[in-house]
Parts: sequence; structure tokens; C-alpha cells
Amino acid sequence: MFVPRLCQRAVTHTGRACICLGIWLGAGCIALWSAAAVEPPSNYDPQVAALLAQMTLDEKIGQMTQADSEALKDKSGVQKYFLGSVLSGGGHAPAENDAKGWLKSCDEFRSWALKTRLKIPLLYGVDAVHGHNNVDGAVIFPHNIGLGATRDPALVEKAARVVEAEVAGTGIQWAFAPCVAVARNECWGRTYESFGESTELVSELGAAEIRGLQGRQLSDPTSVLACAKHFVADGGTADGVDQGNALCDEATLRKVFLAPYVAAVKAGVGSIMVSYSSWNGQKMHGNKELLTRVLKGELGFEGFLVSDWAAIDQLSPNYKWDVAESINAGLDMVMVPNAPGTSNNYVEFIQDLKESVGEGKIPMSRIDDAVSRILRIKFQMGLFDKPYTDPELTAAVGSAEHREVARECVRESLVLLKNSDHALPLSKNLKHLHVMGQAADDIGMQCGGWTISWQGKAGPTIHGGTTILAAIRKTVAPDVEVTYSATGERGHGADAVLVVVGEMPYAEKDGDRKDLRLSATNAALIARAKQTGAPVITVMISGRPLILDSALAQSDALVEAWLPGTEGQGVADVLFGDYKPTGKLPRRWPLNNQQLSATAALNEKPLFPYGFGLSYDSLPSKRSTAKADIGPTSE
Ligand code: BGC
Ligand code: BGC
Repeated sequence: MFVPRLCQRAVTHTGRACICLGIWLGAGCIALWSAAAVEPPSNYDPQVAALLAQMTLDEKIGQMTQADSEALKDKSGVQKYFLGSVLSGGGHAPAENDAKGWLKSCDEFRSWALKTRLKIPLLYGVDAVHGHNNVDGAVIFPHNIGLGATRDPALVEKAARVVEAEVAGTGIQWAFAPCVAVARNECWGRTYESFGESTELVSELGAAEIRGLQGRQLSDPTSVLACAKHFVADGGTADGVDQGNALCDEATLRKVFLAPYVAAVKAGVGSIMVSYSSWNGQKMHGNKELLTRVLKGELGFEGFLVSDWAAIDQLSPNYKWDVAESINAGLDMVMVPNAPGTSNNYVEFIQDLKESVGEGKIPMSRIDDAVSRILRIKFQMGLFDKPYTDPELTAAVGSAEHREVARECVRESLVLLKNSDHALPLSKNLKHLHVMGQAADDIGMQCGGWTISWQGKAGPTIHGGTTILAAIRKTVAPDVEVTYSATGERGHGADAVLVVVGEMPYAEKDGDRKDLRLSATNAALIARAKQTGAPVITVMISGRPLILDSALAQSDALVEAWLPGTEGQGVADVLFGDYKPTGKLPRRWPLNNQQLSATAALNEKPLFPYGFGLSYDSLPSKRSTAKADIGPTSE
């Protein structure tokens, strides 16, 4: 059983904490405890040096190369090129896409690394950004923007521990998470990957997610390596353009965008992914000053830097030059996802890197530093001593216990924006409740991008979980008539109408928008609900605030549910008053499209301010602790 394992860890922590308390008092104990929590990777330098001394240049370059599972048609390529890492990109999965299928495939990849001369273990990475989201049957959590609304670091850590267990259960040791972007403009399609607009909030929740994934000690038996991304200012690009250019002075860069990395390094993050974006016109993948002097030097980051997906290719039209430039800037591992036969693939990367070293364009000391950083983490994680995966963890992927944690996240993430005449909570004993809108019964829309496929997709894309409609049917009294229409018909005569509207799934690039008004179809659906004369409850499934216009006046109650993931039951928990809403906006809610510009966001009054969120004043909160709000960052 997995639950006892979770408890076991808690018990060990509690036990240690108690002994500690007995000896040391108060703050002294906390200092000692947190010091123990961030064991520096450089502790493993003696082992690293001994191994490095035995390695050939080819073996070193292999460690610095990360290929994609779909590009590597033949898994033996891991042995042939001494690959240090393999990833499965968004939507990439083994033919048998379930936990067992993943484990089998990952184990095969890993076994090829163990056939090499030095048997250096492979580090397998995946975008587990809201649950183990490429795996069918895994639990999908709310995207980060929803977690930002919870304001609850303990819950974020608990959720990440579940993700850690699901990832580890498939034989994977590395999650490209958390995204610690401070998203400043909701036109950016990746806004939902950010915990919010506040540096403080992002820093706190990012660190919590790192602790959850890495298990306080990277050397914990089930720990999964975290990867803070995308360094730096990915959320600060002009007009919210993906992979764009952040224009700001250094003081702003540090205060707003660098601070979450200070927190991440302090929390012991073992890897950091560099951003596609630029700062004042310079691509981050070539920015030696920020990657090497600031991050590794000033911030003391001892882990390794990985590139983003084929990102070094964007530095110039000359790939060989890009390879040398990015490694010299401080990249330690490069994600080279292209398949042989296409340009800039891993075979070419390896060749170019080797030649550049031979030509003296990359000093050997830089190669040794990069490889040492990767090996430090492999030693610290105990990968050399972790031959196989605990079958109990594999069996627990998608378990009821895990779903329960995601459901808790969902209900804490909902933000109640309007509640006229106590339209909410709904009674469980209504005679007739009419539900409208495709999003009410669509698990794919609930989950959004980075779910089974890269951009996500509407429809029954993943097994397990509950749509909002199914959750409502489970929650109301047995004799309540619940009718449903995706397009809004048959609402007349209902005691209340629940309209679920939302955005179609999207991810990076495809999700960038300049116009954030509700779609005409969504607006018409709400107008139609209003015509029934019954109280209208609107629930929004969206990765960011949308411009509401008349939809606000036409709704008696309005709930922002973000992208809640598979556990729609958490939405019903709040709608029917089993839990009162506690979510607070992690970003201000613009009144109109004009307010999307950075200057307007700073100077004009939004529709709802940062931190806004109503509750049902008639119900006591079931949350044990009231959290003080973390304020937005002003520039
Ligand atoms: C994204 C990263 C992601 C990587 C691997 C990139 O396009 O920017 O966030 O980790 O792909 O899938
Ligand atoms: C991959 C993603 C990656 C993206 C980058 C997609 O084909 O599946 O993982 O982030 O390409 O462009």
C-alpha cells in the first residue's frame, strides 16, 4: 500500500523533529532541520572526481546529451552514444500508455545505460507539470495557476509528493517542474503554468513543489529530481509573447523574476531549465553572465542546467557555433530532441561538441564542470544504487488516495467572484438543476494543455477522473432531476441553471492570444441561461482570467475553476457547500482587453484585484488554518 509510505515519511520527519526538539529549542532546531534539508550536491565531489578521471571525452559528451524517446527509434542508442539522459516530450508515450507500459519502456532505456563500460545510470525526464500528465490513468492536478489560488504551500507540497510517487512508479526520476514563471501578461498561453503574478507567491509555492518532488533530501529513496524553469523572465516577455523578449532593467529582473530561483536553490533544486526567451534582446541560452556568473556563482547553484527543447538551435543559423556558444555560456546538458535524418539531431550535436573541444573552442575544464554537475546529482539521488522500481508505487498510479489529494487541491483552488442573493451554495435537494455547456462534461477541457498530448485536447482523452457533470450527479440527492445540454437547450422550468464555459485546451505558442474576451459561443450560452429566469451559476474552466463583459451581470454567481484536472468532484464539493470557497485570485482580473498591457495592468483598476475571492459567509470553513495573503509584487 502506498498510503503507509506517505505516512512513513511523515512519521520519520516527525520523529526526527521530536528528538531534535528535545535537544535543541525553538529556532535553533528549525535552523538545524532546514540545514539538513539542503544537503549540497558538492558533498558527492569525491565520488564524482574518481569517476570523471576514468571517463573518455565521448563518455563525457554522452552525459551532456539528452535525446527524446521518440527520436531514439532504437533504444540501444543509449549505449552507443553513452547518453546521460532521455526525455519523453509532451504527448510522447510508449505504445502501451499506462503505468506498467511506461515502467517497462523506461527500464529498457535504463538497461542500455548499464551496458556501457562505466555503467553510469540514465536519468529519464518527463514534463510532469500537473501530475504525471503523459500517462493515461495518472491523476491530473490543477495547473499551477489554480494552485496559486489556494495560497497553500503545505497542500502544494503534498500534491507534489503524490506526483513524485506517480513519476517514480513509472521508473522515471526527473520531472521538468516546477515552472516558476512570474507571468505578467495573460496573453501568454503559458500563464496557467505560472502560480501567479506575484514573485513572492511563485517563490513560496515553487519551493514547496520542489520539496514535494525531491522529498526534502534528493537522496530519499523515492525522490524525483525537480527542475525549476524557465530561467529567467519567461513570464515577463513584451506583450506576453511566448519565447519573446523581456525588456527590463537588471534591478527589475532580479526583484521580479530572479527571486523564485533564489528560493528554488535554497530549497535544494537539483536542475534548472533555461528559457527560450531573451532578456533585452539577448537569448538566455547564450547568456553567460546570467547562467554562469549569477546563477552558478552568485546564487551558488550546484546542480546542472538543461536546455529547453532544441532551444540552442535558435541562437544562430550555424548549429556548431550554437553548440559551443551555449556550452560556454553554462549549459550542462542539452535537450536534442530531433531524430537522426533531420537537422540538429543528437548525433550531430555529439559530433559538433567533440570537434569544438578538439578545436579549442570549448575548454576541457568546461566539459568537466558540466559532467561533474550532472554526476553530482546522479550520485546524490543514489541512482547508482537504485536498480529497480518498487511495484507498489507502480500499482498506486491513479489510486483513490492520490485522487483525493487532487480533489482537495481543486476545491481549494476555486475562486468565487460573485454571489448575488446567496445563489451559491446550491441545495442538494433542488427539484430540477439544469447544466449547460460542453465544458461541464469534458475531462479534456478540465485538464487543459500538457495532458496526454502536448497541447491537450477536448473530449475523453484520459481514463479515470470525474467530469463536473458526473460529480454533480453523484453529489445531489437521488430524486433531484439533473438535465444536461452541451448547447444550452431545455433549461426552462429549472430551479437553477449551471453554465460551464471555458477555453479549449492549448499549450505553449498556440495559447498566445491578444483578445481574451469570452468566445461568442460561451457568451451566448450564458445569455441563454439568463433567459430561463432561474438563478444562473457560471463556472469558468480557463487557464487565465477572461474578459467577462455582460457575462458577469448575467450570472448570479460566478466561480473561476481554472484548469482543475481530472478531479471534478472538487468543484461539486464547493458548489453544494460541503466546503466553502477559500481561493484567492493569484493575478488581477482585467476589465477589458486594453488592460492587458503591462502599463495598464499597473495603473488601472482591474475588474477584480489580486487576492480577491468571496466565500459563503453562512458556512464555517473546513480549512484548519487561515492563511495570510501574499501580496502582489509592484515594480
Ligand atoms: C517547453 C518545456 C518542456 C520541454 C520538454 C519545451 O517546449 O518549453 O517547458 O519542459 O519542451 O517537453
Ligand atoms: C514536444 C514537446 C515540446 C515541443 C516543443 C513537441 O513536439 O512534444 O514536448 O515541448 O514539441 O516545440
